[in-house]
Amino acid sequence: MIEMQDVVKKYPNKTTAVRGLTVNIDQGEFVYVVGPSGSGKSTFIKLMYREEKATSGKKLEVAGHDLLKIKNRDVPYLRRDVGVVFQDFKLLPRKTVYENVAYAMQVIGRKPRDIKKRVMEVLDLVGLKHKVRVFPGELSGGEQQRVSIARAIVNTPKVLIADEPTGNLDPETSWEIMKLLERINAQGTTIVMATHNKTIVDTMRHRLIAIENGLIVRDEAGGEYEFDD
Ligand SMILES: Nc1ncnc2c1ncn2[C@@H]1O[C@H](COP(=O)(O)OP(=O)(O)O)[C@@H](O)[C@H]1O
Ligand SMILES: [Mg+2]
Repeated sequence: MIEMQDVVKKYPNKTTAVRGLTVNIDQGEFVYVVGPSGSGKSTFIKLMYREEKATSGKKLEVAGHDLLKIKNRDVPYLRRDVGVVFQDFKLLPRKTVYENVAYAMQVIGRKPRDIKKRVMEVLDLVGLKHKVRVFPGELSGGEQQRVSIARAIVNTPKVLIADEPTGNLDPETSWEIMKLLERINAQGTTIVMATHNKTIVDTMRHRLIAIENGLIVRDEAGGEYEFDD
């Protein structure tokens, strides 16, 4: 599902954020990515949805797409297979909840009838069917994150990647988001989640990949957080 071999990312300012990542993630896995600030977690994630291009690598494949060879015009096809969720939600403030989620289907040319049905289905899944006409600014942080998750899964991606999705949320709301991610994972979607949340990682055990200084230093099934940050 996600295969990386010796992937390196050097930014134009000469910072080497990722120094040779080799990892295999199978369909249906739930994987945490942990590590100190600046260790390369976000870069690792950005390489997976082609927000950043690898500087070099022997292999970088995600959901059947070869990201070392992919053309810019084919990136939208990759993005159908890879949903993304951010710490700061990144919702469109002038669009309603419904429009924010529907937009992801409109841009890939889905039929209005299919859009309506599917948007209501995912808003129901995240428990926000009653908020369709509301604007993001009128929602709590947890509700905004649920809208952003609905948007990320509306095109039924094979992978959902999340960069510190609970980073702006209080503990109780963070658990709600985690339960939702587990439910999505149980339906077969692969989940890769960068996080600083020790309590979540140590309680809801999943495979854990620890990155330090651009390198994978641990990769354990059900691993513990083990960082002081
Ligand atoms: N766009 C960028 N340009 C230059 N350096 C960057 C850029 N993004 C990240 N970096 C640097 O790359 C390293 C890894 O950053 P990042 O992947 O954001 O780590 P993390 O998410 O673990 O905090 C850091 O040294 C950071 O300053
Ligand atoms: Mg980061």
